[in-house]
Amino acid sequence: MQVKGKNVVLGVSGGISAYKAVEVLRRLTEKGVNVRVVMTKAATEFVTPLTFRELSYHHVAVEMFEEPKGPMMQHLGWMEWADLFVIAPATANVINKMACGIADNLLMTMALSCTCPILIAPAMDSDMYTNPITQANIAKLKQLGVHFVGPATGPLARRNVGPGRLADPKEIAERALELLASGATWRRSALEGRADLKHLHILVTAGPTHEAIDPVRYIVNRSSGKMGYAIAEAAAERGARVTLVSGPTALPAPRGVERVDVESAVQMRDAVMARLPGVDVVIKAAAVADYRVREISAEKIKKEASGDELTLQLVRNPDIAAEVGKVKRPDQTLVVFAAETSDLVEQALRKLREKKADLAVANDVTEEGAGFGVDTNKVHLVFGPDRIEQLPLMSKRDVADRILDGVVRLRKEAGLM
Ligand code: PMT
Repeated sequence: MQVKGKNVVLGVSGGISAYKAVEVLRRLTEKGVNVRVVMTKAATEFVTPLTFRELSYHHVAVEMFEEPKGPMMQHLGWMEWADLFVIAPATANVINKMACGIADNLLMTMALSCTCPILIAPAMDSDMYTNPITQANIAKLKQLGVHFVGPATGPLARRNVGPGRLADPKEIAERALELLASGATWRRSALEGRADLKHLHILVTAGPTHEAIDPVRYIVNRSSGKMGYAIAEAAAERGARVTLVSGPTALPAPRGVERVDVESAVQMRDAVMARLPGVDVVIKAAAVADYRVREISAEKIKKEASGDELTLQLVRNPDIAAEVGKVKRPDQTLVVFAAETSDLVEQALRKLREKKADLAVANDVTEEGAGFGVDTNKVHLVFGPDRIEQLPLMSKRDVADRILDGVVRLRKEAGLM
C-alpha cells in the first residue's frame, strides 16, 4: 500500500464517540499519513482540540473565521491539500446537512468545497440512523460517490442496542488507507452516480430456488435474497446495467434493475446461461438447491397412499456457477459465494478453484449476524490463497460495495477497465 506522505483531513463532529477519532488519527499517522483535524464546536465539548493537535503536530481548525494559517481561505486550502476527507464520527446532523449542501460551520464548509474522496463513519442513536430521512440522505450521498464505513450494531449511549455505533477505529483507518492506496478520486461531476461501473453489464443471482415435489409442496432453503438484492442495488447505483435473476423472495426489485423471476435451479441455469454472452460480470449470490426431485408428482401426494414413510428420489441439479466458469471468456468476471458452517477459507478456496471463479465471498452462516435472512453479513473476500480480505460484520449493502470494489480491482488488474 503506497500511502506514506498522503494527506488526510479528519473531520470530527459532536458525538459521544468523538474520542475514538483519536485512534483513527493515530493509526493513520503510524502509516506515514499527514493528518489535519477539523472539529465542530460540539465535538470540542467531548474532546479538546489539544489532544488532536499534539497527535497530528498541526493546528486544529474549529472556527470559521479565524486567521488563515496559509495563503488561502482555510477551508479551501485544506481541501486542496487533502487526498481524502474522513469524517469520523459523523452525526446524523452532519450527514443530513451534507446531503442538502448546507455549509454552516467550518467542517460543513470543507465538505461542500471538497473535491477529493470522502469517507463517512456515521455514529448516532439508532432511532436517528433508521429514520427514513437519514436513510434517504445516506443513500443520496452514496449515490454521489461518498464512501461509508459502518455504522456497527451494538450498545449505544442511551444504553440501548442497535445500529448506529461508530465502526471500529481500526476498520475506519483501514478503509481510509485502502482508499488512499487505490488513488480513488471523487467523481463529483458524475451527478448521475458514482458511475465507476458505468460500462458494465452485471448479472446477479439471488434468493433460494424452489424444487417442486408435487403441485403444493417444494424443497427450499433459508435464503431471503437480501444479499443478492443488495449487490444488485449497489451495482445499479454505481452505474452498471444490472440483470437480477431471482429465485422466489418477498423483496421488491431495486430501482433501475431488470429482474428475471425463476423458481427452480434448472430455470435459474437457463436464465443465466441465456444471458451470459452479453454480460461482463456474474455474481452468484443465490442459494441454489443442489438436488431436485427426480419425478415431480402431477397430483398432490396423498398420505393415505404413501403410508408412514415417503421416499423422494433426488437427482443433482446443474452447478450453475461451475457451468459459467467452464465457458466464460477471459473478459468476464465470475464471483461465487461460499455458505459454510466450518473450514470457511479452505472451502471457499476449493469453490474458487473448482468453479474457475475470480473471487469467492465466504460467509460462515453459523455466525451471529451473518448469512441467511439478516441485514448484515460477515465475509472473507477470497481472491486466492495469498489474497484474502477478512471484513468485519457490516450491512449487506456495505458488503455489496466491498464485493463490487473487489470486482473493479480485479478488472483493472486484468486491463479490462
Ligand atoms: O439471501 P440471504 O438471506 O441474504 O443470504 C445470503 C446467502 C447466505 C444466501 C449468500 O450470502 C450465500 O452464501 N449464497 C450462496 C449460498 C450457496 O448456495 O452456497 P454454496 O456454497 O452451496 O454454493 C457455492 C456457489 O455456487 C454459490 O455462488 C452458488 O450460487 C453456486 N451454486 C451452487 C449450487 C448450484 N447447483 N449452482 C450454483 O451456481
